[in-house]
Amino acid sequence: MKIGVLTGGGDCPGLNAVIRAVVRKSLQNGHEVIGIREGWRGILEKNFMKLDRDSISGILHRGGTILGTSRTNIYKEKDGEARVKANMAENGIDAIVAIGGEDTLGIASKLSKAGVKVVGVPKTIDNDLNATDYTFGFDTAVNVATEAIDRLHTTAEAHNRVIVVEVMGRHAGWIAVHSGMAGGADMILVPEKPFNIEEVCDVLTKRHSSGKNFSIVVVSEGAKLQTDDIADKDGSFVLSSMKTDSFGHVRLGGIGNILAEEIEKRTGFETRATVLGHIQRGGSPTAFDRVLATRFGVFAAELVEKGKFGYMAALKGNEIVAVSLEQAVGELKTIDMDLYKVAETFFG
Ligand code: F6P
Repeated sequence: MKIGVLTGGGDCPGLNAVIRAVVRKSLQNGHEVIGIREGWRGILEKNFMKLDRDSISGILHRGGTILGTSRTNIYKEKDGEARVKANMAENGIDAIVAIGGEDTLGIASKLSKAGVKVVGVPKTIDNDLNATDYTFGFDTAVNVATEAIDRLHTTAEAHNRVIVVEVMGRHAGWIAVHSGMAGGADMILVPEKPFNIEEVCDVLTKRHSSGKNFSIVVVSEGAKLQTDDIADKDGSFVLSSMKTDSFGHVRLGGIGNILAEEIEKRTGFETRATVLGHIQRGGSPTAFDRVLATRFGVFAAELVEKGKFGYMAALKGNEIVAVSLEQAVGELKTIDMDLYKVAETFFG
């Protein structure tokens, strides 16, 4: 069999570890593997690269993806699905391993229903993909954010400041909750629980009047307001741009700065904002993510070997299992509110 591998959507530490695992296992199974460059765009444009033992050597620990990535939606392209099928046939590609999040795997799911042999591997630093306990890349992002919070703690304390740390998380606050808990944040704001700016300021004021002279507030980029005093009327995302990608997502970012200004204005505490941004996605994966990515990659190669198409490798407890792509992209996995309640114990 000739197996195509692609990486789509935002990059994520551990992508190369998955590619390496898919290639090594598939070669052992007696198959040929070809890299499809820059996500689904690569199959439309017939942009391929050789993937053999040599080309995947030395990539396990490297961030980014040797295949490149894009947010191309084939269903927004003219005759997209037909071109995917035709280009697969023309290049002798029998099956595709798609490594991606809800958008990339949403396409995989539709293609699978249309008869294309495809299996999925769950990727996103946001950890919001359904049907898997964790996605790879999330642990690395949480560790980067936690280290940043630790560093911000000492400077906040030295200057008697409030520091607002904006982390990624478009629809789900997993990174905020985990890094906020690990870093001892005094307040964590997530998309799942719209916040009230007055309440946030009250908590900080009480904390400062009880003897503390600094605070750390962690906010997800997609956090929403209950009221409309500093954001869109409906309390929705604070947008940094109205531009959307081919899946209709707007570019987020900016809530940290707006929140910092409001906190300073309302409480009188000197406040600064730090936006972690793409630092959370770059660089080497943690050991946890390398192992998870490797297990996912080997499992995906085995799904292909068994002819189990239309499925995704998923982590359930400590087991890697197969879940249908349809189930994986059916809905987003938002944060566990019980976990958030634990985090709330330490607010203020
Ligand atoms: O892939 C997920 C993610 O990192 C989100 O957390 C974030 O909102 C988005 O991607 C950023 O996308 P881009 O790389 O296009 O700026």
